[in-house]
Amino acid sequence: MFLAAKIRILMKQHQKTKFILWTKNSQFTGWADHIGLFRFLGFKRGNETGAARGSTNYTPITVYDIAELRDAAGDIPVGKHVAKTIQGLAENLSQQDKGPVFDLVEYSLREIVRNAAEHSRGTKIALLGQCWPAKKMAEIIVMDNGVGIAENLYENELLECETNREALKFAILPGVTGVSLDDRLQQDDHWKNSGFGMFVTSRFCAENGLFRVVSGADGLSLGGEVQTEHPWSFKGTFVQMRLSFGDAQRRLDRIDELTDSGKIAFGELLKDHPIRASTASKLLASQFLKTPN
Ligand SMILES: Nc1ncnc2c1ncn2[C@@H]1O[C@H](COP(=O)(O)OP(=O)(O)OP(=O)(O)O)[C@@H](O)[C@H]1O
Ligand SMILES: [Mg+2]
Repeated sequence: MFLAAKIRILMKQHQKTKFILWTKNSQFTGWADHIGLFRFLGFKRGNETGAARGSTNYTPITVYDIAELRDAAGDIPVGKHVAKTIQGLAENLSQQDKGPVFDLVEYSLREIVRNAAEHSRGTKIALLGQCWPAKKMAEIIVMDNGVGIAENLYENELLECETNREALKFAILPGVTGVSLDDRLQQDDHWKNSGFGMFVTSRFCAENGLFRVVSGADGLSLGGEVQTEHPWSFKGTFVQMRLSFGDAQRRLDRIDELTDSGKIAFGELLKDHPIRASTASKLLASQFLKTPN
């Protein structure tokens, strides 16, 4: 998906250039045809995006138009509309329409797609999900072509955020939101932005597999007890989540525990604001070992 997004941009930037796709039939092309990968790139081969019925194991590449999502939401909060929209994909991926495995997948998918719809200021969201039932594992990719995370956090007066990389670390702190207090006061009580979506989802995916965010010129990966920072580049925001769902109920209970611990941590952070980038790094380092990059 990452490569596909890059190829799409390249093709858009060079519309007079003829791009030729040369493939041999293989297991990969069969799968790529099915999920709509080539159509997503702009080639007339395989299924249209969103066309393949998600098999038992994966969703096709699904593309949402952000303006259409917002229009369709009408008077209801866009987050609530997104939650409804991604239900079917969460069912496909978890192969259930209720229960803890469904809840795990639905939570992660919803929070990250919501972010793209609510904050990205882009035009499109693309996602792809795959599950490996025998391994009890799912992987979800959500990406948008918006302004990136840092653009939304530079102006936040509670943060001393000066670089793109710092912004990624701030975004996964509890209580950090790019939405102004004035705007939040206008929001629906249940769906208002409190800055916990990325914190909970990143911690939760790290505990159960992997959370990776790439936005602007940097990437940040959390997996197990290890964090890795990497120079990378993505115009917009790209999130990869890998989740094990064996013993799903126990894992699901962690969402509430993480939210509670996040609230306490946020209270502590606020005692000394603006929150410095070094504080964000320290907090992260207290949970995750840093690998050299
Ligand atoms: N896809 C994205 N594009 C641009 N900015 C983003 C994106 N995802 C997150 N952000 C920025 O990171 C901030 C933190 O995200 P997070 O999900 O933790 O909080 P929130 O969405 O503001 O609140 P909540 O998730 O509790 O509703 C967002 O407020 C936004 O400024
Ligand atoms: Mg959010």
